[in-house]
Amino acid sequence: MKTQRAPTNNNNKSVRVQRAPTNNQNKSVRVFFILGRNPELSRAEVLEFLKARNRPHKEILFEENFLVIEVNENEKFDIQEFGGVMWLGQVTFEGTQQKFMKYINQNEIVPADKFSYAVFGNQDAQVLKDKFKGEKKKAMIKHGRKQIQFQSGEKHELPKVDFYIFYYEYNGTIYFGTATQSYDNTEVKNRDMNKPVRREFLAISPRLSKILINLSGAKPHDLLLDPFCGIGGILQEALLKRINVHGIDKDKRATIGAETNLKWLATQYKIGNRYTIENSDSRRASDLQFSAIATETPLGEILREKVSDKQVKQIILNFEAYMIPILRRLKVIKKPFAKIAITFPTIRLFRVNVQKIAEKTGLKIYLGPILESRPDQFISRDIVVFQ
Ligand SMILES: C[S@@+](CC[C@H](N)C(=O)[O-])C[C@H]1O[C@@H](n2cnc3c(N)ncnc32)[C@H](O)[C@@H]1O
Repeated sequence: MKTQRAPTNNNNKSVRVQRAPTNNQNKSVRVFFILGRNPELSRAEVLEFLKARNRPHKEILFEENFLVIEVNENEKFDIQEFGGVMWLGQVTFEGTQQKFMKYINQNEIVPADKFSYAVFGNQDAQVLKDKFKGEKKKAMIKHGRKQIQFQSGEKHELPKVDFYIFYYEYNGTIYFGTATQSYDNTEVKNRDMNKPVRREFLAISPRLSKILINLSGAKPHDLLLDPFCGIGGILQEALLKRINVHGIDKDKRATIGAETNLKWLATQYKIGNRYTIENSDSRRASDLQFSAIATETPLGEILREKVSDKQVKQIILNFEAYMIPILRRLKVIKKPFAKIAITFPTIRLFRVNVQKIAEKTGLKIYLGPILESRPDQFISRDIVVFQ
């Protein structure tokens, strides 16, 4: 097996993955993704992103918050395109435990003499500790500064280190690699904090905005609609992906906010893509034959914990009745195969009847519902993609 240098831990905008040491003609490589707090949603995001671009890929494993996919060797990823991926890199070894021991003895895993590292997966890091000790490297393993809580309630350590190593055993096969990209949340956060108009209590996070856009299948230069655009959170992330956008909101103040924010963004990031905002009701949305729709629905009144089950049931029924005519209109004004990635409120055990919505609107359920919740939130969301 050829010696491969471990990739460095930089935040390059896009990184060409190296060819995996296989003998097949297709020249494919395997890439691992360490997913964020909602692995099921993040997995769907990555796969839909590739599908929308007709980029060949095959899912190899999806366990816990780890996803491994096979792609062409010239595939490029930019981790900032995704909302739900924390680290990614190429699988540089795949095989039996016995072969792995040989691989690790013969190859340099980290091209540095003094560094800190973290190991993700289900394997004991002792092998690596011994390896670095044998090489007389000053390697410090770290187990996390802060924790991330997953939907399941499980907490994961989030270390800040020089190298992130993936080391996972699945069905007798070891998958191993070093991350080449880490998600940079500082830039995303700064952008969100610095935009001229903010409306925190209603706004969706940039993370969820990106996920919805990727689930909608929107690609650069497509025209994406957000029929409940508010001050433009989703539109902003879509513009950054070089997608043309159209936003609608019935609240005049929100549309002024969206225009201000998008103008600011276009100047700050030198974006030449088209953006238009319409102050009207989405039931009367203009027919522009959109290529994709991504939106966060209005959750209605701000609720307090005290609401009874009967009231919650009624709120959900009212929501369904409100959404049906709007979704019917969206079906008409989108291209036939265009997708609608949308959030529906879920309160306690009460969820929107997605099947009923599909039947009443003539839309097909393409994906979901996938629950997106936080332990501290009273109202959670179901993410659904219609076609
Ligand atoms: C949850 S907020 C969207 C927040 C948005 N993602 C943002 O970044 O600001 C929902 C928005 O839908 C708007 N809305 C509610 N019903 C509407 C309708 N029938 N047509 C258009 N906009 C509507 C509300 O005014 C509100 O701004």
